[in-house]
Amino acid sequence: MKALVLSGGSGTRLRPLSHTMPKQLVPIANKPVLAYGLEAIRDAGITEVGIVVGDRMEDIREIVGDGERYGIKVTYIPQAAPLGLAHAVVIAREFLGGDDFLMYLGDNVVLEGIDELVGRFRAAPCDAQITVHPADPREGGLAVLDAGGRVVAVEEKPKNPTSNLALMGIYVFTPVIHEAVRSIPPSARGELEITDAIGWLIEKGYDVRGHHYQGFWRDAGMIDSLLECNQAVLDHAGPRILGKVDEDTEVIGRVVVEEGATVTRSRLVGPLVVGAEAIVDGSYLGPYTSVGEQCVIEDAAVEYSIVMDRAVIRDVRGIHGSLIGRATTVRTATSVRAGHRLVLGEHSQIVLS
Ligand code: DAU
Repeated sequence: MKALVLSGGSGTRLRPLSHTMPKQLVPIANKPVLAYGLEAIRDAGITEVGIVVGDRMEDIREIVGDGERYGIKVTYIPQAAPLGLAHAVVIAREFLGGDDFLMYLGDNVVLEGIDELVGRFRAAPCDAQITVHPADPREGGLAVLDAGGRVVAVEEKPKNPTSNLALMGIYVFTPVIHEAVRSIPPSARGELEITDAIGWLIEKGYDVRGHHYQGFWRDAGMIDSLLECNQAVLDHAGPRILGKVDEDTEVIGRVVVEEGATVTRSRLVGPLVVGAEAIVDGSYLGPYTSVGEQCVIEDAAVEYSIVMDRAVIRDVRGIHGSLIGRATTVRTATSVRAGHRLVLGEHSQIVLS
């Protein structure tokens, strides 16, 4: 079995971060979203992986390379425009050949692996297998299953959901999907939807099965779900102190301080991670915080947040539930001047209290 990982798209729900980095590379506990998927694929014993990429191909290639560091062999499949998930299958035809394949949406994060769903397909082959999880299906797709686990209906972005089963972005397809993706028209938003291709299979009487995923799953393409992923991963991280932590620093709970990081005169309350070569001084870092590599946090207080590589936070307290992009500076003005001075790019969000 091969795997097809979708890592193109436009990431509109993650603006402004997605203006400068593909959403699949946003870090969760200092590891890119996409890495969680690639590792799950490898752990399920699939090593031949096609990655569909859009205009951010070079950023993805820089991190994933030929796949060796993840124990897989990667073929890049460029998609000229984000024309839909089924369109990605159309352009991957040559890579996929006549094989069954696992299709994995690169912004999906699962923490308990995918061995079981791949094993289930292998043990009881069907024409297509989808994966479902109880969640509000309005943000994505919905599935309706009969008592025997057969999928009887699917719907993309339903306004009035008729089930509480969300379609996860993890599917197993046999080559009949190629006929389906070529038979469906584009949706109202102009995309070839994989949900419509699955609907086509159901309509034609193919055997489409649903697998209930039992573990943690989020579509990390949205801000709140990214923070939830960060929390879930940090709950199982460390403790591990490889960097320097001075005697005036208090460390409580599961705390990771990576190699080359320096923490002085601070209070660290885990679970949290401080990335390699970061500098933390006179600060409070609270639960569920990821501080990226080479960040500088001075006289600040941050919790429940993702702070990306090389960001600087100085003299600011009360940062909570925030996503702070790479090389961003957040600081208090040194001169006494009334009001806030903000230099913000398009689609930035500032919530002041
Ligand atoms: O996450 C689960 C949901 O993913 C499912 O419930 C939906 O049924 C499914 O359609 C999909 O919905 P999204 O609206 O979340 O899809 P999104 O546009 O975020 O794309 C998913 C991944 O595929 C993401 O990593 C970007 C990539 N992609 C997307 C498009 C439209 C491509 O590589 N090429 C594309 O043309």
